[in-house]
Amino acid sequence: MDAFIDALMAKMTLQEKIGQLNLLTSDWESTGPTMRSGYQDDIKAGRVGAIFNAYTAKYTRDLQRLAVEDTRLKIPLLFGYDVIHGHRTIFPISLGEAASWDMDAIETSARVSAEEAAAEGIHWTFSPMVDIARDARWGRVSEGAGEDVFLGSRIARARVHGYQGDDLARTDTILATAKHFAAYGAAQAGRDYHTVDISDRTLRDTYLPPFKAAVDAGVASFMTSFNEVDGVPASGNKYLLTDTLRDKWGFDGFVVTDYTSIAEMVPHGYAKDKAQAGEQAINAGVDMDMQSAIFMDDLAKSVAEGRVSVAAIDRSVRRILEAKYRLGLFEDPYRYADEAREKATLYKPEYLEAARDVARKSMVLLKNEGNALPLAASAKSIALIGPLGDSKADMIGSWAAAGDRRTRPVSVLEGLKARAPSGTSVTYAKGASYEFEAAGKTDGFAEALALARKSDVIIAAMGEKWDMTGEAASRTSLDLPGNQEALLRQLVATGKPVVLLLMSGRPNSIGWAQDHVAAILHAWYPGTMGGHAVADVLFGDYNPSGKLPITFPRNVGQEPIHYDMKHTGRPIELGAPGAKYVSRYLDVPNSPLYPFGYGLSYTTFGYSPVSLSASSMGRSGSIVASATVTNTGTRAGEEVVQLYVQDMVGSVTRPVQELKGFEKIALAPGESRTVQFTVRPEDLAFTRADMSFGWEPGEYRLWIAPSSGAKASTPVEFTITE
Ligand code: BGC
Repeated sequence: MDAFIDALMAKMTLQEKIGQLNLLTSDWESTGPTMRSGYQDDIKAGRVGAIFNAYTAKYTRDLQRLAVEDTRLKIPLLFGYDVIHGHRTIFPISLGEAASWDMDAIETSARVSAEEAAAEGIHWTFSPMVDIARDARWGRVSEGAGEDVFLGSRIARARVHGYQGDDLARTDTILATAKHFAAYGAAQAGRDYHTVDISDRTLRDTYLPPFKAAVDAGVASFMTSFNEVDGVPASGNKYLLTDTLRDKWGFDGFVVTDYTSIAEMVPHGYAKDKAQAGEQAINAGVDMDMQSAIFMDDLAKSVAEGRVSVAAIDRSVRRILEAKYRLGLFEDPYRYADEAREKATLYKPEYLEAARDVARKSMVLLKNEGNALPLAASAKSIALIGPLGDSKADMIGSWAAAGDRRTRPVSVLEGLKARAPSGTSVTYAKGASYEFEAAGKTDGFAEALALARKSDVIIAAMGEKWDMTGEAASRTSLDLPGNQEALLRQLVATGKPVVLLLMSGRPNSIGWAQDHVAAILHAWYPGTMGGHAVADVLFGDYNPSGKLPITFPRNVGQEPIHYDMKHTGRPIELGAPGAKYVSRYLDVPNSPLYPFGYGLSYTTFGYSPVSLSASSMGRSGSIVASATVTNTGTRAGEEVVQLYVQDMVGSVTRPVQELKGFEKIALAPGESRTVQFTVRPEDLAFTRADMSFGWEPGEYRLWIAPSSGAKASTPVEFTITE
């Protein structure tokens, strides 16, 4: 590879080199505010190295032909696309997948996505999004793995491996991208693209680890973020892109910016004009410019005037050519664009089955009073009510790549009808709307209530419209939008059992529902096969096993909220009940509605006390913590067993708990399994007072539990000695 690229680069003019550094959207689709016309001429002129938002074997082949037939050096294009949770066969949104805590399921989703995308000419996905998200107002919480560093890092690894496999030269694997680097999820007040201002310690300990995990998993590329970090926009941030990513972590892939984010350094107030922004970007460590066309227009002049070195350009060109080489594009630029393979690959039955399986694994049972679920055989008439009950478009959520929103998705109504036993009717009324403007309106209520009154059970399919999460979809309220809750209250008032089937891409404040409905199942946006997966869970063909990857607040005023908060000097537990001068709210408890890691099952699980192999360890030692988990109910089920650790005293204050291990186990009724976790000092490392990364000797507590909100067993103590 090196010899090939050396020889190629020796032939390239500066303009041809700069050409490789540009990524433009096709005019098929645009995922941002600007579009450059005439991109096909740019390709022919050798001004473009990569194209995004173009797919199908035919279209990518046509565009590729322009690069390899009309340019002097015939360097093939790289085709990128946002394949986030499926390409054609859509899986649950990423946050939903994270709720499965099932790394095989998550890897399968990425694998299938890669196979379908690769069959349509795609070489490169802008996924995984590994941003830690702790503020449910931010619409992009739906795109990542939730709030936790440990879980998020494991999922980052699974997704990278799913897309890239072990061999990028295979035509069914694609390059992955860890995005958005970095701290995009820490936007002030949850408003998308807003300022990020966090300590360097928080950056390192909370926001960076999933990116590091992606590097360790061999991720091929990184994407910068739109936000600033400590006053410097991420696309011009040398501390992030060079000092951290290259020098500290040894990343050897290429870095692309987010959509026009180089140009945005001008409105940020960081660059005086576009040319300066381009110089800042490449000098900070950016390799490829997505859609700003600044490298294309201005970089040669910056080189001529000595503000950017040829060495900097060479370094970036080399990284991009290496990616193309690894994919085998220099051998055959059309190897991903094969119409026969495309036809044979899309929507394979096994892909649809995998999507259904991952969807049911991602659902979280939040409440189940009196075993209202699974639906009893005696429920002969089911009233399905709510805007999400008969919707195909919503099922696949945002960033659904080439997913068909109109015909393919199985709606909840279709799924329930297909599964309902003969003699059981499923009847639908929309009743309410999730549109914001519907608030206060009641048209539709009468029809829904009439249906409800003559039915045995009501399933209220409510939540958010698919595009109320994702990019540029922040909210200041987490309530069910529109007039849904008003209808829900009236449905409950009929006295019939009500099951809330929640669908959304973020935590919602559903405290009223928690207090009044019989059961709540969170189905996120479950994907193409969503309706069938919902039916699998509601009828009990699958016993729900998902656990929340993100905290659900009681109301929006608790945001940002996460399970690994600090204790403070006035923790609420130290005051008498209702005490004033402690860290609390006057109107709601500090605790969330549902904690991180929480989720019920149709069966129950018992936890034994924890036992430790030793009560202290030295620097190269380890301790094994174990607990026996028993299925104490009458159905087979799966449980996500979670290990939490608290570092009691540190050179800087430490979180009240941190997830340090988990295992998803399946147990038959009455069956027990002993789950073991090995803890080493390095597992407890953090950024210490002097900014070095490592563990500290001292006292720790540990427990094994079904969620971050429940210390099922009494914490046990151990020490790390010097
Ligand atoms: C988003 C990225 C996405 C890119 C390309 C941007 O607006 O922030 O996540 O990959 O567009 O579509």
